[in-house]
Amino acid sequence: MLPLKEKDKPIIQKLLVAGCCARCILRFCCVGVQSAYRQPEQVTLQEMQAFVLKGENEKVQDPAAAASTGEDNNSHDAAEVLEGPPCKRVKLDPGDHADPSEDEKSNLGESQVCVACLGILQDLCGTNQAVKIADTVKAQKYEFDSLVLSISLPAQLCVREHSCWLHVKKEVREKGLVLDKDDVIQVKEAFKWIMQSLVAKELGGVAVVGKSGFEVGVEFTHPETDSDCHFLAKVCPDCFKPTKNKQSVFTRMAVVKALEKISDDKFLKQYPCPPARPACSCVPQDVQCLHVSVFIAGRYNKFCRSLPQTPWLIDGERRMESSVEELIAAPILTAFRAGGFNFSSSGREDVDVRTLGNGRPFAMELQNPHRSRLSKLEMKELQETINKSSDKIRVRDLQIVTREAMGRMKEGEEEKTKSYTALVWTQRPIQKEDIGFIDEIKDLTLGQKTPLRVLHRRALAVRQRVIHSMNARYVDDHHFYLRLKTQAGTYIKEFVHGDFGRTKPNLCELLKTDTDILELDVESVDVDWPPAIPE
Ligand SMILES: *[C@@H]1O[C@H](CO)[C@@H](O)[C@H](O)[C@H]1NC(C)=O
Ligand SMILES: *[C@@H]1O[C@H](CO)[C@@H](O)[C@H](O)[C@H]1NC(C)=O
Ligand SMILES: *[C@@H]1O[C@H](CO)[C@@H](O)[C@H](O)[C@H]1NC(C)=O
Ligand SMILES: [Zn+2]
Repeated sequence: MLPLKEKDKPIIQKLLVAGCCARCILRFCCVGVQSAYRQPEQVTLQEMQAFVLKGENEKVQDPAAAASTGEDNNSHDAAEVLEGPPCKRVKLDPGDHADPSEDEKSNLGESQVCVACLGILQDLCGTNQAVKIADTVKAQKYEFDSLVLSISLPAQLCVREHSCWLHVKKEVREKGLVLDKDDVIQVKEAFKWIMQSLVAKELGGVAVVGKSGFEVGVEFTHPETDSDCHFLAKVCPDCFKPTKNKQSVFTRMAVVKALEKISDDKFLKQYPCPPARPACSCVPQDVQCLHVSVFIAGRYNKFCRSLPQTPWLIDGERRMESSVEELIAAPILTAFRAGGFNFSSSGREDVDVRTLGNGRPFAMELQNPHRSRLSKLEMKELQETINKSSDKIRVRDLQIVTREAMGRMKEGEEEKTKSYTALVWTQRPIQKEDIGFIDEIKDLTLGQKTPLRVLHRRALAVRQRVIHSMNARYVDDHHFYLRLKTQAGTYIKEFVHGDFGRTKPNLCELLKTDTDILELDVESVDVDWPPAIPE
């Protein structure tokens, strides 16, 4: 039995005549019992008609009462609904209520598409639709524990809803009944009540819940009634401002805002109440699946002096055939079947600089991953695949992290230390003793004007950086290796060659001869994130 009350009768009658579907009528009667929506719409319609008729029959037996309450016109409406048109009298088929067969549909003379939901709570809300959604999800082979169903409705549904509400409100006011617009069940809500369990069933019992990292989006459009919203632009021009990425200014939000501003009188003058009957139902768009990003972190070594960290483009032309991020990302994208990535790291090295030691921490956002978990073993295999894919890079400590944890990589980056080894050339011939003093220098503060080579992308400034310690190892009378432990962000090349005096002090000054840097290696990046993974 439908949870309807005597006071709902006039609303039911009014909306049946207006061309609302049975489920929309339940919504306007503020029925919050989910099972009432889940039963087939045609069954609900029959029960509703019986409910109204029962009352009217009693009244017909007492014509005086009917006359005195002034309900003649209503009883007439009810009779009309119950006797015809034929579409309202679809016979009951206990096998498949939700989806009347094609034969049944073609028998319907007049359109029976609901004026309020434009068919969404009718044929577009049942087993057929659930199968279509489930098939899309299955075809894309996502791995997930639960999913959230999201629904996008045409904006004009708000206008139609408002019109139906005003239609009901008149009735309610005359009868002295109270009804709050906020108590009316939303189309979206009713759709979910019906569809969540159907989709769950089609997917073999997965949890279809209110919140999940896996979202399945169902969108409906209804081109036939798109112009329903247009009159609102004159009422509230401020509500409809063109925005860059939206195709139409008539977004749902803008329409809701305009409807809040417009007075009932004004609305009723410009829009039919109840809304006009549509010829056809909404058009379901392709089902969209989206999984929240997965974040992965690790450390990388780079053993090559001709590999940029990110694709190197000059005037749109590629300069190097690959990059650190692409070499790392390709196997990871395959393993997680992700749609895209966003790479970041704790600092970066120049194209000709190697990164040795324990490597440089990096993190990647994997967008729309079809897999979101890997076992320890799979993770190790993935690491091996990356290691074997090229001799230019290696990775370690590969692991899944949270978005929040990623922030720790960038936290206090400037205070962290980095160690380097530079191969230095000196113009003046040197002996071992000439470079011994370098080892004694501690916490040397440099003033570094933005290097010439990065001026095109960094603001001109003088930055203070500290070299904590250095160690020189003699090679021959024009070469030595210089080890440096520095504050992160120190420009090492500029410290060695002086950058035309833009870095002070510099190695040329200290050694009193021209010096240049031939090779540079990063030996360690002292950031304790991500945590090391024991082998
Ligand atoms: C019934 O409808 C007629 C016109 O359709 C109208 O003139 C009359 O006032 C209505 N009566 C009631 C009681 O609403
Ligand atoms: C990539 O990540 C950076 C910082 O981690 C963020 O600012 C940027 O918006 C991201 N880009 C995309 C396309 O997600
Ligand atoms: C990949 O290479 C790194 C660096 O040499 C090493 O630490 C790690 O164990 C390797 N991992 C696998 C699974 O081969
Ligand atoms: Zn409806």
